[in-house]
Amino acid sequence: MKKGLISLLILCVYLCNGDQSITILGSGYVGLVTGTCLAELGNTVICADVDTKKIDSLNKGIVPIYEPYLEAYIRHNTQAHRLQFTADIDYAIQQAEIIFITVGTPVDSEGEVKLCYIHSALLSIIRVLKTNPSTRKFIVVKSTVPITTNQYIEELFTSHNISKNQYALISNPEFLREGQAISDFFYPDRIVLGSHSPEAIRCLRHLHQPIIENGVPVIVTDPTTAEAIKFASNAFLALKIAFINECANLCDVTDATISVLAKALGLDTRIGPDFLNPGPGFGGSCFPKDLKMLLQSAKKYDVSFHTIAASLKANEIQKHKAVKKLNQLLNHSIEGKTIALLGLSFKANTDDVRDSPALTILEDLLNSNAYIQAYDPMAAQNAQSLFPENNSLKYAASMQEAVKNADALIIATEWEEFKKMHLDQIAPLMLQQNIIDMRNLLSVEQARKYGFNYISMGNGSYFIELSH
Ligand code: UGA
Repeated sequence: MKKGLISLLILCVYLCNGDQSITILGSGYVGLVTGTCLAELGNTVICADVDTKKIDSLNKGIVPIYEPYLEAYIRHNTQAHRLQFTADIDYAIQQAEIIFITVGTPVDSEGEVKLCYIHSALLSIIRVLKTNPSTRKFIVVKSTVPITTNQYIEELFTSHNISKNQYALISNPEFLREGQAISDFFYPDRIVLGSHSPEAIRCLRHLHQPIIENGVPVIVTDPTTAEAIKFASNAFLALKIAFINECANLCDVTDATISVLAKALGLDTRIGPDFLNPGPGFGGSCFPKDLKMLLQSAKKYDVSFHTIAASLKANEIQKHKAVKKLNQLLNHSIEGKTIALLGLSFKANTDDVRDSPALTILEDLLNSNAYIQAYDPMAAQNAQSLFPENNSLKYAASMQEAVKNADALIIATEWEEFKKMHLDQIAPLMLQQNIIDMRNLLSVEQARKYGFNYISMGNGSYFIELSH
């Protein structure tokens, strides 16, 4: 978080000037964060979802995802009667002047996007507009949709005889990062508003006014450009990670040091210091999916996008790097060894395991016939639904339990807890003192001090002390 919860709450009280009625269609991670933060700004918000189980648990105060501070914000706003949850989609649409669409847009293995959830949200809006022809709604698309989806939406509304007086469409892509979404909502780098309707732009500006007043730039454009901005942003960030990972791989086989390289690289203002941390590959519900979607769209328009194809390919290779390094450390004898896998989520501060590189590592270990003791502070339950416990795989209740009698430990996710591990206490618990640190959380000096063989990311062979 850029700021703590307390300063965020102080900011919100200060910012609070909302007076709009808002409905959020799709109460997943983006929808819940957006709806809750808009309520915090003083608006009346209904978060709707077709998943009745999810709505039931939200109504009981149980938040289905782990996102720092989200639960506290939800509690605060439901108690203040600014935030409610419902599975009655039509009711939710009827109540609001502004409808945010935040449903999922999953892709299949080819990168072909499934717009069925978007479609069904739109049909619900159309149904309500037909029964209440005198109402006018602002429809805000926040879901990541293929470029030109706004044109498809206009055509759909026209084909259902919905007049342009009844709605205005805005593309308002989200740039929230899981794990710091609340702070990203209140302190974004920019707000993108794409619409052909000046009234819609005014409405969304008004809604974001407390945030804009804080000095946040607003990019006003047409909806197609807004849709494209979202893809370009994610694709460029993914490219940066794929690039620094390949730099780290080069550092590994030369005597160069990635941390120094990344620092010097980032000091070039044309490049910037962020997103240059090497790791086990990028994952999550956005980068892999959005890149595939972008490639697929570009292909349809006969546009080649070699850089994006290359970053996806480099990332696929990167996800297998951890077990390659382990092979190097254990002299190609992983079979039958006990490996502690620390971290299962795709990054720290989330319980999300979608496309997590840690799960690729888990799969590689299973394929190598290792015994795995996995631990994650938040994501174990989600991982277990994909990889249930068996003879070769156990989920540990603590880091200490995971490393017990292990021949090696792999750090896959950059949880604070792992950064703070006391190697003097970890060493005696393990059978052999071997560490593969895919997030560069520990230092070689520390590892050496307690007799560990230590391989990290791009720190050169000079770091490695092989005892095998
Ligand atoms: C990403 C974007 O950062 C958000 O701006 C965007 O709104 C979101 O996708 C989305 O489209 O919804 P997110 O997937 O939550 O957010 O996570 P990031 O923090 O961007 O990390 C993505 C992956 O890159 C993770 O696996 C992370 O470990 C990896 N990463 C990130 C690195 O390996 N190195 C870095 O330096 C940064």
